[in-house]
Amino acid sequence: MSEPIPFRRPVMPGGPPPDEELHVADPPRADGPELELGPTGRPTPHIPEPRPIAIHGNARVISMCNQKGGVGKTTTTINLGAAMAEYGRKVLLVDFDPQGSLSVGLGLNPHDMELSIYNLLMQRDVTLDEVIVPTNVPGMDLLPSNIDLSAAEVQLVHEVAREQTLQRVLAPAISQYDVILIDCQPSLGLLTVNALTASDGVVVPLECEYFALRGVALLKTTIDKVTERLNPRLRIDGVLGTMYDGRTLHGREVMERLVQAWGDTVFHTVIRRTVKFSDSTVAGEPITTYASTSAGAESYRQLAKEVLARWPDE
Ligand SMILES: Nc1ncnc2c1ncn2[C@@H]1O[C@H](COP(=O)(O)OP(=O)(O)OP(=O)(O)O)[C@@H](O)[C@H]1O
Ligand SMILES: [Mg+2]
Repeated sequence: MSEPIPFRRPVMPGGPPPDEELHVADPPRADGPELELGPTGRPTPHIPEPRPIAIHGNARVISMCNQKGGVGKTTTTINLGAAMAEYGRKVLLVDFDPQGSLSVGLGLNPHDMELSIYNLLMQRDVTLDEVIVPTNVPGMDLLPSNIDLSAAEVQLVHEVAREQTLQRVLAPAISQYDVILIDCQPSLGLLTVNALTASDGVVVPLECEYFALRGVALLKTTIDKVTERLNPRLRIDGVLGTMYDGRTLHGREVMERLVQAWGDTVFHTVIRRTVKFSDSTVAGEPITTYASTSAGAESYRQLAKEVLARWPDE
């Protein structure tokens, strides 16, 4: 290999001696690691592994929220929770959707549930410990739900402090867990307002498809109203692009628009479209155990790191 030719400054009147070599830094290579652009069109940062924690508790509560249906809220709740549990966090998943998809996705039968979150919300004598069930993922528990919860939405309207009901029933869990993830239903009704009131952060999963961008303004208005009137702690942890297909121009354009509108709120991690997610739901387990080495599992581990890195006290 020949030596690189040193750059020599041309002789200028009054300048440095002609034989002084100037060390010019290599121009950054377009394909170099520091300039590698992720699917969001921004350089992908290196996010360190979350540090292990010795003492559990003081849970941070996060709602997965988007009033649009089928955008990946439940899939994100299960898999982000499972990935955080792999990192040693004690995780509680809260199924706050009467469809009960989170509970079904973790292998529960909605008709077999003796107690669900509905009982916890509506009956003062039912305690959190009676309703929580363990999952097959070590360190991850579930507060299950089924169609009964739809009645709660109607009944809560007549309650005092109706927006704070979920916050009240979750209070004893804060000292037992490191993270509590709430899977919201696809609506901005009273159940979702309860979830936002109980939360420190919101993650907004958004399908990388053009119409997904519509309605996000309304969601933002709702989050702002809850922050202003009910819960000043609340902040948006991030917007997550899901079901991304990088092979289509459409997918890349939607991602670009998303970053234009939301800037750094958009997570660098993007979840690609793959049938493995539906397969793992049928199997009743997270993708992190169903297909542990798959790209989908890796993406949710990456998301877990990114979410944890965004928390003020992590
Ligand atoms: N990245 C992905 N690639 C392919 N399919 C996915 C992906 N994420 C989720 N899905 C599938 O899309 C469907 C909807 O996902 P999910 O249930 O998570 O959405 P949701 O927002 O919770 O829906 P809802 O609003 O009805 O509660 C499911 O069948 C799920 O398996
Ligand atoms: Mg869902």
